[in-house]
Amino acid sequence: MIRDPEYVNIVLKSSFDHFSDRIFLVDEKTNPLDEHLFFLRGNKWRYLRNKISPLFSQVKLKWMYEEIDKCVNLFDECLAELSDGKDLDIKELLARYTTDVVASCGFGIEPQCLKNPSSEFRKIGREYFDPNKINMRMLFLRLSIPRLLMWFKIKTVSAKINNFFLTTTKNILHHRRSTGVVRKDFVQLLLELKEKGTVEIDTTEIEKDETYKESPNEKIETLRIYPSVPALNRECMKDFTLPDGTVIEKGLHVLVPILSLHRDPKYFPEPLEYKPDRFENPPVNGTYMPFGDGPRTCIGKLPLLALLPFCCGGIQQQGGNQRKRFAEAAMTSVLARSLEKYKFELSPMNNCGDIKLNPKVITSSPLHGIFLRIHKL
Ligand code: HEM
Repeated sequence: MIRDPEYVNIVLKSSFDHFSDRIFLVDEKTNPLDEHLFFLRGNKWRYLRNKISPLFSQVKLKWMYEEIDKCVNLFDECLAELSDGKDLDIKELLARYTTDVVASCGFGIEPQCLKNPSSEFRKIGREYFDPNKINMRMLFLRLSIPRLLMWFKIKTVSAKINNFFLTTTKNILHHRRSTGVVRKDFVQLLLELKEKGTVEIDTTEIEKDETYKESPNEKIETLRIYPSVPALNRECMKDFTLPDGTVIEKGLHVLVPILSLHRDPKYFPEPLEYKPDRFENPPVNGTYMPFGDGPRTCIGKLPLLALLPFCCGGIQQQGGNQRKRFAEAAMTSVLARSLEKYKFELSPMNNCGDIKLNPKVITSSPLHGIFLRIHKL
């Protein structure tokens, strides 16, 4: 485990060529859904990252905000129905909202999970992330003995989940190709990429780490206390010697404990206190990384900068460059709509100040949901 911010930067950024892969292994024949950026290694990862990065540039994502807006309308309708002072698990509602956004921006389909909690898309999403015994065992194998999965050709997801995503994608691609229908979504961008071999590139924006600069303090403080991914991992690809002489041998797994760095009083005094103003001064380099860091940083960071404010309630200052205004337009319209109509308060059902995280889930997920009371203004 690496905890020194200087060494964290070495592993994630300056000596990336020694630590370029995560610890996961992929057997794409047995588990085709595993063949994605997060798990891929070496040249396959490099190739795909280069091809896909431009799709996440701001220019390419302009259309996304129209789609998000449609989902926000649905969210608003749900709040209207629920705003009678009843206790509402906002985590569940936001999960449905997120599924709608992903389905519509990713696949161009509208599962309307917000309206219909038992829609197939939501059921599959719930099943995929459910910390049941099978999923927990699979996670253990992935993290501890990934080779075992390869040797025994173990399927990492159920046939149902596998078939759902493969069939959905195949059907959409077939429909687009056979009818010539063009939609604004990632499938369309991928089709374009496949046909032309490239899309217009605007990579500079996503390579710069602008999480800190671009985000309102409220939002980055929430991600400090509750980083969605509590730890990063990297595999050492060739022997490496740290400045203090410690040798990290090839094949060793290196862990960067984001959650504990974010809550270390040395870098963030009174770490459990919600103090957005602490970000008036930049944090020590290598101590704050909710989206990871270096060339393998989260590719969804850019669209998320626009999405997150809705979940976390941050408002950015007026002004700034075009990009800021663009994200700002998306967030302020959503916030304005919600805050104009409703008052939100914590429900007594939460019964504690600090949100307890579910120890069975690898991402930071509240153990008991987050209950709010919503009142119409
Ligand atoms: C609040 C939401 C999210 C958070 C906090 C988050 C955080 C992270 C973190 C910590 C990593 C690991 C980075 C590293 O190892 O240095 C990661 C990787 C990744 N994320 Fe996210 N993520 C979020 C949502 C998303 C979304 C919505 C997408 C897709 C649109 C996405 C796509 C990815 C991909 C593809 C990777 C792997 C990148 C690579 O290895 O090249 N993430 N994310």
